[in-house]
Amino acid sequence: MAEKLKQASSRGSGNADRQPAAAGLPLPRHIAIIMDGNGRWAVSRGKGRTAGHRAGIESVKAVLRAALDLGLPELTLYAFSTENWKRPRTEVSFLMRLLRSYLAAQRAKMIRDGVRLGVLGDVAGLPAPVRQELDRTLEATAGGRRLLVNLALNYGSREEIARAARLAAADVAAGRLAPDAITAEELERRLYTAGHPDPDLVIRTAGEMRMSNFLLWQSSYAEFWVTPVLWPDFRREHLEEALADFGRRQRRFGGLPDSDE
Ligand code: IPE
Ligand code: IPE
Ligand code: MG
Repeated sequence: MAEKLKQASSRGSGNADRQPAAAGLPLPRHIAIIMDGNGRWAVSRGKGRTAGHRAGIESVKAVLRAALDLGLPELTLYAFSTENWKRPRTEVSFLMRLLRSYLAAQRAKMIRDGVRLGVLGDVAGLPAPVRQELDRTLEATAGGRRLLVNLALNYGSREEIARAARLAAADVAAGRLAPDAITAEELERRLYTAGHPDPDLVIRTAGEMRMSNFLLWQSSYAEFWVTPVLWPDFRREHLEEALADFGRRQRRFGGLPDSDE
């Protein structure tokens, strides 16, 4: 992994003397990003909030490119929360249209790059045209083996956990599961992320120190990295900065550091 990062970084991005930010350090298996600050980015430029969402697409592309180059296996992007429906109708419908056009425009490139798309969230609650574009992309990219990109869409951790409890309750009612058998593992198997590794690193842009209902269960032992950089300004160098910081952290998972064992 570290070797991969070294290789990728030495390939560089046109800046010959730039040192690899995290060479030799462990890479996260799964990175989750709370892409925040689109509105602030736009307003600070005297533009409408939607201009910020549009600009944020360039950051998504840059981060996918970097993830591919660095050999990161899995990336989850928080794109629309269960609470984001509270926003003005015009903003919500702009976001839905943007998502559709992004998927349609990037599908062929995703396939070429070996990207597989995944979705986390209550997809049934999304507008039909969005669902259609999602289904097409999920199917078309199903063979992607280099990078799994999960879009968290109409996603909220509370909804996800309540849903897992409902599914378990239905299994109990049907006699397939004993109440005593409802363990953390059984609930995990009913989360949208079933079968995925927990995120090792959660990145949030735009400075806010909160989770906003994102991967609450899965992030129990994730490392957090918050940057004041607004999402539309986020580029490869910021991801590398986060990776370098992550690589230096000592994770204990409630145990003791290796050296003390
Ligand atoms: C994040 O940017 C994008 C979504 C939540 C869809 P915001 O739209 O939340 O931007 P700010 O936080 O208002 O600046
Ligand atoms: C979190 O950002 C949701 C996404 C990035 C999709 P928000 O902007 O919705 O979060 P709050 O409202 O600041 O907590
Ligand atoms: Mg925000």
